[in-house]
Amino acid sequence: MASTTPQEVAQQPEGGESSLQELAKRHLWMHFTRMSAYDDAEVPILVRGEGCYVYDEHGKRYLDGLSALFCVNAGHGRAEIADAAAAQARELGFFTNWSYAHPPAIQLAARIAELAPEGMDRVFFTSGGGEAVESALKLCRNWHRLNGDGQRIKVIAREIAYHGTTLGALSATGIPELRAQFEPLTPGGCHVANTNSYRWPEERDELWAADAIEERIVFEGPETVSAVILEPVQNAGGCFVPQDGYFQRVREICDRYGVLLISDEVICSWGRLGTYFGSERFGYVPDLITTAKGLTSAYAPMGALIASDRVAAPFMEGKEMFTHGFTFGGHPVSAAMALANLDIFEREDLCGHVRAKEGELRATLESLRDLPIVGDVRGAGYFHAIELVKDQETKETFDDDESETLLRGYLSGALYEHGLICRADDRGDPVIQLSPPLIADTEQFEEIGSILRTVLTEASDRMGAG
Ligand SMILES: Cc1ncc(COP(=O)(O)O)c(C=O)c1O
Repeated sequence: MASTTPQEVAQQPEGGESSLQELAKRHLWMHFTRMSAYDDAEVPILVRGEGCYVYDEHGKRYLDGLSALFCVNAGHGRAEIADAAAAQARELGFFTNWSYAHPPAIQLAARIAELAPEGMDRVFFTSGGGEAVESALKLCRNWHRLNGDGQRIKVIAREIAYHGTTLGALSATGIPELRAQFEPLTPGGCHVANTNSYRWPEERDELWAADAIEERIVFEGPETVSAVILEPVQNAGGCFVPQDGYFQRVREICDRYGVLLISDEVICSWGRLGTYFGSERFGYVPDLITTAKGLTSAYAPMGALIASDRVAAPFMEGKEMFTHGFTFGGHPVSAAMALANLDIFEREDLCGHVRAKEGELRATLESLRDLPIVGDVRGAGYFHAIELVKDQETKETFDDDESETLLRGYLSGALYEHGLICRADDRGDPVIQLSPPLIADTEQFEEIGSILRTVLTEASDRMGAG
């Protein structure tokens, strides 16, 4: 129990540590956060956003080079999304999608179906990305069961991929450190190589990673495999792009063995790659798409599972139903905000803007290759990573202790101090990730380039990269 009430703390005089700091340290449990790191340091408290920028409690401005975790695609401070929320809350603040419908969820489902790849017309709403993945995995099992294939329960995912933290989604997540504390997970998760060709031998076949999926299906026994789940560009590990033809080969493999293909587009939809859906960018049609984040530009929590007509069909007949749901799935206020968000996308042609400008963002990052610590630059759209290495020639990476010193001991703090929010991550090899709001332009790219040059030059010196 709190020794002082929040009201008392909030009334403390200004100066010294702010009352919000004290309350945050005492009560707020931040996600994926070493709380002890803030024992002697300030919690970064962001209070306001406008366009590509956010402001902290002291009024300091930061370039949001991460769209607040790959989320705020339309940029901060969009009053019309807020207005849509207020109008909907006044009209009908909430009603559930359990056996009932309301205009915003219906209109949004229809709009998503119109934008989604051909033949993907059925939308099941969730509260976020992990729930969308969880729903997809359950739907696949259920679909196979209805087809008399009840033993198909396994899901094939890729190493280092992140698909969420609920026990089902976690079984698809391929990051050992995230799984270890929670074993046993939902059974059935199998992992194969990702598409990180930066670390492949040169002579390796381009479609080697796609073929690894077939090998694994055969190894497991096709009659036990339910689904393959892949992101168009894999986030964790640092924006691994697919090789040309990768998804076409995977689609063939899934069809050959009767396995469903889930495109996990929690990040890679809503313009992040310059198209409404990542599958559109790489020219494949999955059986299911999972999405969230940019759907509302994260002004409200919302996710969705988009199903092909083929997968949805058996659930639309007779006494069948998908016995699954979440109270807040399709929340009318979130749906109204998503519709307002998509109006902005259309009016400002945000996808077109990303396609026109992604080359410039890429060139900014490529220009840093003269720094000894920059090993690789990769990604697509407004979703890029820089892999950091000890040695550019040999591609030698940092060991765990060095990575700790580099990322947590220096980079994360230094980037923030210089006014750039981006991600320094070592769930795979150490990377910095950039994923700015889709309205970002030359001015922001120059700012990103300049801050990264300063900070990575210092990082190279400190780590003796060469
Ligand atoms: C590809 C992918 N799938 C699933 C998730 C989980 O989404 P959420 O955090 O909304 O549950 C994420 C989150 O970043 C993600 O990137």
